[in-house]
Amino acid sequence: MKLFNPGGERGSAMSYAALLEKIEIMRSTLRWATRLERPDVDKLLRQANVLRDEVMQLSHKERFVQAVSGDIERRMGEEPVPEPPTGERRRALLARSFVFEGTFGDNPKLLDALEIAEKAAPTDLPVLVDGESGTGKELMAKVIHANGARADKPYVSVNCGAIPDSLLESELFGHKKGAFTGAANDRKGKFESAHKGTIFLDEIGELPLPGQVKLLRVLQSHEIQRVGSDETIVVDARIVAATNKNLRKLIEQGTFREDLYYRLSVIHVTLPPLRERKDEIPLLLAYYGDEAAEALKRRPVALTARLRDFLLRYAYPGNIRELRNIMYRIACLAGDTADLSHLPEDIRPAPSATAPTPAADGMANISLAEAKRAASDEAERHCLERGLEEVGGTVAELARRWDMNRSHLQILLRKHGLHSKDFRKTH
Ligand SMILES: Nc1ncnc2c1ncn2[C@@H]1O[C@H](COP(=O)(O)OP(=O)(O)OP(=O)(O)O)[C@@H](O)[C@H]1O
Ligand SMILES: [Mg+2]
Repeated sequence: MKLFNPGGERGSAMSYAALLEKIEIMRSTLRWATRLERPDVDKLLRQANVLRDEVMQLSHKERFVQAVSGDIERRMGEEPVPEPPTGERRRALLARSFVFEGTFGDNPKLLDALEIAEKAAPTDLPVLVDGESGTGKELMAKVIHANGARADKPYVSVNCGAIPDSLLESELFGHKKGAFTGAANDRKGKFESAHKGTIFLDEIGELPLPGQVKLLRVLQSHEIQRVGSDETIVVDARIVAATNKNLRKLIEQGTFREDLYYRLSVIHVTLPPLRERKDEIPLLLAYYGDEAAEALKRRPVALTARLRDFLLRYAYPGNIRELRNIMYRIACLAGDTADLSHLPEDIRPAPSATAPTPAADGMANISLAEAKRAASDEAERHCLERGLEEVGGTVAELARRWDMNRSHLQILLRKHGLHSKDFRKTH
């Protein structure tokens, strides 16, 4: 259920964002609590009651806004609103009830992609998602499906690069019993399975030319024929395609049909590689560090300073998937603390080359905005480390000194992979 009317007024959007933030703080309190005493339970219950009341109030307000919907048209002639900062853009997406769970990042290019996905999702227009391997193309396809009118209908994924040429037609369109050797029964293809839902055509650049012709025909006619059958079946599947190839180049080389490209790319979304959004690495390290620890049922692993430095500066040719894999590897192999030796051998720096230099890590090539964000991140981390040292690792005390919400402080510590226990005085 969509909680928020996208045409609604700005005040509601902000309130929804505030509510979500409160829920996140409660979730993180629960997640990090090793045990809860009665007073803690009572406190959480009180917070939950306040949240419930606020939701009720917003719901009344929303009905009111809908009732006076003429109000929305009033805004049409107003001055253009200046571009909001990225944190706000992300919150605004959340507030409009756009579902993009598990998709992190405040990078403007990622937000551009999410905002295009938000607009494309409710339509039936084909979407082409491109980006390097591991940048989240499949995740984006699921986001588009989850936010569309077909969300409760099938989502069928086809890896076009993994089907042998001889089976392609049968895989996509199905076959009739006896159509070829081995066709022992009638079988539905992926398009029929995706009827009324979404079909995700992954690695579309790998589809051989004969397959491209067949796909084009389906896109034009919305009809398929099972292999060995004369019967035409109408299929209504929303198409989302993905590729890590440059399809324009493939068109020039004659291995991808231009007409198919235009059919598929009515809406075109490009995902940025992780090396262009290095400022988001701390958040991803914290998230996947926690996820891996949870999956392997162990305590989160602390990272030595030099491992952390490496992970912050590494270029991640395999993008977010590679980062995630590294964190799972570390959670599996390391004890309480992980060091460079826990990295996969092919990326592990030689012992003499462990001290990073600005020229070697590509910092010289990042944009001014990224440099600023990286510097602010670094400053935040130093400040947290110094603060924790001063209070001997007592987060509650630090929160009191800085007049900050303790849960928020804990979220910041996790973002930087800092553990308060590492700052406890042992004597
Ligand atoms: N913005 C993001 N925030 C958090 N996790 C992400 C994000 N983007 C991708 N991931 C995670 O990275 C991994 C790879 O994502 P996904 O499989 O969608 O990439 P892909 O582009 O389809 O890769 P490939 O081209 O290799 O098929 C997944 O575990 C996904 O959840
Ligand atoms: Mg993929």
